[in-house]
Amino acid sequence: MKFAASRLEPVKPSASAWVSQAAKEAKARGADVIDLGLGEPDFDTPAHIVEAAHQAALRGETRYPPTNGTLEMRQAVVDKLQRENNLIYAVDEVIVSNGAKQVLFNAMMATLEQNDEVLMCAPYFGQYKDIVLILGGQPVALECPAKNGFRLTSDQLEAAVTDKTRWIMLNLPSNPAGAVYSDDDLQALGAVLEKHPHVLILSDEIYEHILFDGRNFQSFAAANPSLKDRTLTVNGVSKAYAMTGWRIGYGAGPKPLIAAMTKVQSQICSGACSVAQAAAAAALNGPQDAVRAFCKAFEKRRDLVVDRIAGIDGLTLDPPGGAFYGLIGCADLIGATTEGGETLHDDAAVTAYILKDAGVAAVPGSAYQLSPFFRISTAAAIDVLGQAMDRIAVSVAKLKRKA
Ligand SMILES: Cc1ncc(COP(=O)(O)O)c(C=O)c1O
Repeated sequence: MKFAASRLEPVKPSASAWVSQAAKEAKARGADVIDLGLGEPDFDTPAHIVEAAHQAALRGETRYPPTNGTLEMRQAVVDKLQRENNLIYAVDEVIVSNGAKQVLFNAMMATLEQNDEVLMCAPYFGQYKDIVLILGGQPVALECPAKNGFRLTSDQLEAAVTDKTRWIMLNLPSNPAGAVYSDDDLQALGAVLEKHPHVLILSDEIYEHILFDGRNFQSFAAANPSLKDRTLTVNGVSKAYAMTGWRIGYGAGPKPLIAAMTKVQSQICSGACSVAQAAAAAALNGPQDAVRAFCKAFEKRRDLVVDRIAGIDGLTLDPPGGAFYGLIGCADLIGATTEGGETLHDDAAVTAYILKDAGVAAVPGSAYQLSPFFRISTAAAIDVLGQAMDRIAVSVAKLKRKA
């Protein structure tokens, strides 16, 4: 009996899911594993946000919410975008969904025709490719190498756009590389897109608040006001407010696009949890001290990891400008042999070796369409990260490298 529809066939089990499963199994066998695979803040949701959810439930906000989001939450998003991003939207140009993930899915479901091309900057968040494949579109990976700070250039974009291009997906700053774009970079990309009015722009800004070295965040639509009417700005509360489990994300864009996405959402889930939306509105409207404190902690951890990787012969890491990951280069380890005589042919093998030998779970770069790298998350206490770096250093030193 075949259960899964053929549209699911192109979607392979994700490497990050494999890593997390392997780490769990090793832990269950009693192994001492430090799991740096997960992309979620290790902090608790701030108390005033939890309290807002509690109060909403006590007030009886427990019925079906409007499909596109409660008015309170959509207004909070409108106010946030104006206050923090200098972007003016109306409440009917905003949709609230079950995480940014559902915003992304709604957008692709609402707009993609068979074989439409979606440009994405490799390394990229794995869901980008999978949703496009499920919906019959063509993901087009544009390789953004470390030597260019993992950024897409305007020349690359110009060369990649075709008549079939429906979307370009940007992620500012990016998972997994922490790539950051200056205003000039964004405007150079915008200048190319001006020439191609059939292309929609998705700017995933979920890591906006996790930005280092005193950088200020610039939203794509704010850098390119003339493209705002074909840009979908995607964001959410998961990363900035340590709210991954509340599942609230939002999108802001042209009204007809938001209406089409709302149609999709009405068939999937009738909207996002009412109580979680009250919590998310409190997060956006309330004090922002926790956001700044989280960012500071992530920056300290980034500094520690960059410093420690610099001391490990065979690994490289330029300081990521934002987000809470380190995409560590391991080109020098490819072809090396372990003490057990196993050759490390690719970054998946390096990651498996680090899990087995060092007891540190990381995700191979191949999961993000750029090799040879592995990604660690810095969503762990600084002493735990230090311990993980010690262990990786010992394991790497044990490898016999090619001359
Ligand atoms: C780039 C990027 N976009 C979107 C998401 C999804 O976030 P949410 O928890 O809001 O669904 C993630 C989560 O890892 C991400 O890394």
